[in-house]
Amino acid sequence: MSLTQDELKTLVGQAALQYVTPGTIVGVGTGSTVDKFIDALAASGLAVAGAVSSSVRSTERMKALGIRVLEAGEVTSLPVYIDGADEIDHAGHMVKGGGAALTREKIVADLAERFVCIADESKLVPVLGAFPLPVEVIPMAAAQIARRFAALGAQATLRAGVVTDNGCQILDVRGLQITDPKAFEADVNQWPGVVTVGVFARNRASVCLLGTAAGVKTLVF
Ligand code: A5P
Repeated sequence: MSLTQDELKTLVGQAALQYVTPGTIVGVGTGSTVDKFIDALAASGLAVAGAVSSSVRSTERMKALGIRVLEAGEVTSLPVYIDGADEIDHAGHMVKGGGAALTREKIVADLAERFVCIADESKLVPVLGAFPLPVEVIPMAAAQIARRFAALGAQATLRAGVVTDNGCQILDVRGLQITDPKAFEADVNQWPGVVTVGVFARNRASVCLLGTAAGVKTLVF
């Protein structure tokens, strides 16, 4: 029997519980797959000391379910960060930010010893770039950054009506083939006005729990 995408997300959300140790603080990402993880965590009875959240959306969901939420500044490190992805390649590099939470996601991921990515199998790609790459930008720089992408042969579009949790804007960039994610991330991150590029190479996944028709597949990078 084939599973729906929603059921695959539920499966990997539950599977991620094996990476959470009672008494520790867990880093929590954002998105529909993470929502499943939050629900599974709340239902599991696993007594975590709390969570550091990457978005207002996840914070509200966790608080509503009785999970204590701490500020990132209150911790010096996290054993694990659990988050979804828009794309993940065979080395654990990811594109993230479809939910506009990429900057806080990268901040919390950077605190963690291990990034566990939870995703359904549609997210696994040979090369990053088919999903429009989210880039969080300072509004006054958006047009200039869009011109820089145009010079690379790509098309950047402002995500209409979206203001991030940090008061910034999102450009979605189409037409890229990101063959060297680490170099690309380092380059775009230093363009003036870029807050965060949605390539996660430096903070790539250590493990990916991939929801497939045959069950949860664990990829270790
Ligand atoms: C949020 O900004 C994103 O990085 C999400 O982690 C990513 O878009 C995956 O979301 P879904 O789990 O909803 O597919």
